[in-house]
Amino acid sequence: MTDSTTQPRITIGVLVEDADRRAEFYEATFWSLRATPRELLASWLYDERGSILFDEITRLPEYYPTNAEREILAARAGEIAELTKGRTLVELGAGTSEKTLLLLDALAAAGTLERFVPLDVSDDILRLSAEAIAERYPTISVHGIVGDFERDLAAIPPGESRVIAFLGSTIGNLYPERRATLLQAIASALAPGDFFLLGIDLVKDPAVIARAYNDSAGVTEQFVRNALTAANRDLGADFVQERFVFDAFWDPEREWMDIGFNAVEAHTVHFAELEVDIELREGERLRVEVSSKFRREGIEAELAAAGLRVTSWWTDEAARFALLLATG
Ligand SMILES: C[S@@+](CC[C@H](N)C(=O)[O-])C[C@H]1O[C@@H](n2cnc3c(N)ncnc32)[C@H](O)[C@@H]1O
Repeated sequence: MTDSTTQPRITIGVLVEDADRRAEFYEATFWSLRATPRELLASWLYDERGSILFDEITRLPEYYPTNAEREILAARAGEIAELTKGRTLVELGAGTSEKTLLLLDALAAAGTLERFVPLDVSDDILRLSAEAIAERYPTISVHGIVGDFERDLAAIPPGESRVIAFLGSTIGNLYPERRATLLQAIASALAPGDFFLLGIDLVKDPAVIARAYNDSAGVTEQFVRNALTAANRDLGADFVQERFVFDAFWDPEREWMDIGFNAVEAHTVHFAELEVDIELREGERLRVEVSSKFRREGIEAELAAAGLRVTSWWTDEAARFALLLATG
């Protein structure tokens, strides 16, 4: 771990750069490519270009989750500030923290906010947003963590009245078992007086959901294709974009969007860094990400199993998205 101070009130801790981490990540990529269906880990989505493309997705007319969550935050941030009296706001998978400003504003207005701790794997976006936030809130400190929320929760600094926010329904990108592990880790990280604030996309008309991932401008496709580009660059892979057709569909049984590609023709992809060749059949699936949608009873049961109790539940007007507050 290296710890560098870029400005007096901003510290950035980098946890993801060491060789062991990289080796583990490459190994996980190797095994997921050999799984059924084959999968290129979603972590390949979020390099610098991927983060910029995701930001573009959040502004698409079809991509309702961001607007729906913003609507809830705009209506409820004051109430959240009052309920939590948050002194430290931690944000997992923070990205640009654009919607988070609503929370930071409310906590600052309530006079309790002292520190913001964004955590994200994407180094560049994290630094940019940490700097912008330090500038906007001159009295608070900002401690960014370039890390993985599935393994680096121990890096969250101790403190009183912490709010750990996990917005954007990012939790839906984890498979149920990994979700359970993460929720347990979050429950263990919470001290008395701390809160967990979770944003989740709800089950609704599948056509509305599917449209959000099949936008007419094709930005989501570019975003997902960028994972192939990143693998070519960093894993010495030889993906040819034209050999894959983008396909994001609703799986009614699992209640998730299944996002990825189908191979146009049978062919082999070589991964120099992994020393492996993957033989794809014509039409074979290469999944990149799932995005689970939730029902209230289901997520409450998952939280309860991890030892978390829901104390508030809010949705947008159209009940597309929910924000909940939980304690340990
Ligand atoms: C779906 S975006 C959501 C961004 C933002 N929170 C929002 O609500 O718009 C997911 C974010 O989580 C980050 N991310 C994905 N997997 C991660 C992991 N394992 N650890 C830390 N950050 C991760 C990505 O870099 C990205 O910024």
